[in-house]
Amino acid sequence: MSSFRITRTLPENATDAALRADVLAGLTGAPKTLPPKWFYDARGSDLFDEITRLPEYYPTRAEREILIARAEEIAQLVEARTLIELGSGSSEKTGHLLDALAGLRVYVPVDVSGSALARAGETLAAERPGLDVHALIADFTAGLALPRTPGPRLVAFLGGTVGNLLPDERSAFLRSVREALAPGDALLLGTDLVKDERTLIRAYDDETGVTAAFNKNVLTVINRELGADFEPAAFGHVARWDPRHEWIEMRLRALTAQTVKIPALGTVVDFAAGEEMRTEVSSKFRRESVAAELSAAGWETTGWWTDSAERFALSLSVAG
Ligand code: SAH
Ligand code: TRP
Repeated sequence: MSSFRITRTLPENATDAALRADVLAGLTGAPKTLPPKWFYDARGSDLFDEITRLPEYYPTRAEREILIARAEEIAQLVEARTLIELGSGSSEKTGHLLDALAGLRVYVPVDVSGSALARAGETLAAERPGLDVHALIADFTAGLALPRTPGPRLVAFLGGTVGNLLPDERSAFLRSVREALAPGDALLLGTDLVKDERTLIRAYDDETGVTAAFNKNVLTVINRELGADFEPAAFGHVARWDPRHEWIEMRLRALTAQTVKIPALGTVVDFAAGEEMRTEVSSKFRRESVAAELSAAGWETTGWWTDSAERFALSLSVAG
């Protein structure tokens, strides 16, 4: 029998309080920033799915190529009975893992986007009637309260989403995942790799403007949730390569001087003409740095696979 349920680990108003705190801190600091997890309301999740199909956005195709080639090998190394996926979104690529993991009993997709989880859950229930799916609406940076499920457990964190965390956040995150698991459990991590600047920039600034719409969607979220009056058309999308940090930095640039009201915070925010605020980083990695970061967080890396063009990597690590 198939089973699908969704659990919310945060009360609705906790998300609200976190959004207020993040927006207040981000917009009153210098330079201004906005935190990325607020991109993913229902429209943001749809726009991201569109991004994954853009010709310029290679990471999804590269990671899928690796999963198709290596899922069987990974399944033999882990023999997981529970698969936990962080930032699962549409769960589309995960199908290759679900097919390969012969002894799998429970799949736990974890995402802040309830709409993405609901849709993925419907598809999974229809296509995999035998699978027990326990979806969690949760913030994976806020400590993981995982349901009691059979081990060994495999945590998958795909899409290069780990690169959207800043270095300090990333080390705390990798450690917290390790602490949520038992020795012998495993982590399958997708990381985008350093490559030529032109390819990188195009992936985050596509011809048809889907990524620009995705970036500006965070303004629409703040308008709706906090009653603000951001004018998305008054901001431009900027994607820059930062060679020192080896990350792509997404920004929104105020095209004219403007003042934005944010009633729920009882504040107004001034933008100078041309002022830029950072909305997201997407770090690009090298093999040695991935293994070193994982090792510092208590993981031993035992597998490393790339696509044929060496654009993207999947690594497998075991909890020590
Ligand atoms: N894994 C999918 C989606 C990647 S997009 C893929 O590879 O295509 C990043 C996903 O992470 C989105 O679905 C977004 O809603 C989710 N997400 C981002 N920040 C999050 C957070 N802090 N906690 C939980 N989910 C988060
Ligand atoms: N995890 C994705 C990445 O870093 C998220 C992403 C893709 C993204 N395109 C974006 C985030 C544009 C903000 C803006 O590749």
